[in-house]
Amino acid sequence: MSPFLLTRTLPEDATDAALRADVLHGLTHTPKTLPPKWFYDAHGSELFDRITELPEYYPTRAEREILIARAPEIAATTGARTLVELGSGSSEKTRHLLDALPGLHTYVPVDVSESALTQAGQALIAEHPGLGVHALIADFTGGLALPGTPGPRLVAFLGGTIGNLLPSERATFLASVRALLSPGDTLLLGTDLVKDESVLVAAYDDAAGVTAEFNKNVLHVVNRELGADFDPDAFAHVALWDDEHEWIEMRLRSLTDQTVKIPALDLAVEFADGEELRTEISAKFREEGIRRELAAAGLDLAHWWTDREGRFALSLSVVR
Ligand code: AVJ
Repeated sequence: MSPFLLTRTLPEDATDAALRADVLHGLTHTPKTLPPKWFYDAHGSELFDRITELPEYYPTRAEREILIARAPEIAATTGARTLVELGSGSSEKTRHLLDALPGLHTYVPVDVSESALTQAGQALIAEHPGLGVHALIADFTGGLALPGTPGPRLVAFLGGTIGNLLPSERATFLASVRALLSPGDTLLLGTDLVKDESVLVAAYDDAAGVTAEFNKNVLHVVNRELGADFDPDAFAHVALWDDEHEWIEMRLRSLTDQTVKIPALDLAVEFADGEELRTEISAKFREEGIRRELAAAGLDLAHWWTDREGRFALSLSVVR
């Protein structure tokens, strides 16, 4: 068998159809919303990589610190022979796990970006002779089917991306992950933690303005893909802490009364001066909440590790 396989579970045009549906739905409802997954075209992915290196954006560094410190324990607890990584992107953090899992048979990166999967997959094979890579082009919130590789299986969902989901969406997502697995299989989950508001807001409103550019990139994506005429300069980047829900919200605030045309949807959207469009929630967590949400999906929290400053957590849970 070739050490690199690529399976497409999304039709070629699925992305386009999903973007149209999301934009139509999100811009014709009150308040207006757009889902964060549309930030990540090539330019948006580059901007996100720059965000991870900003002094204010601690989650990536904190999670890497935990992974490096705990990789041996993760390997010992899971005994994983198949590692599935949801939203694998560049697979940058995965290396720490792969190096610690000597018995690994197959790495299954799952991402919507075919180019990221191919690039990262080929590089990992070169570094890990004998390892099989079966990449899946798929949306991890949709119905996934895993290859029939040997267990135990470890599913990794890193970076705190679960925070982009609303609580009800998280419950559905965790249940769907559980449904892919068997008793004794494990989930390694990265979650950003509740902390001082000023630290959180700064992480999403950096001094260099990279996050503002990242936020406005969704308007460029809609312009390019759907022929819209958004003027990104006519919107301001907003990051705020919602104390009730314990999440950060990113919004784009219209700086004037304006009408935006979206020809591909045959739609004109009106924005009032000061009206805000929500582009992302990034929920922050506490140990007890995570334990409860995992348990509701049939996953028992076995380990809870934080970085030295207690900003970010990796949890390892076991399928009941
Ligand atoms: C990739 C979803 C984990 O929510 O912190 C970074 C995305 N948004 N800055 C996050 C993001 C603004 C990031 N995740």
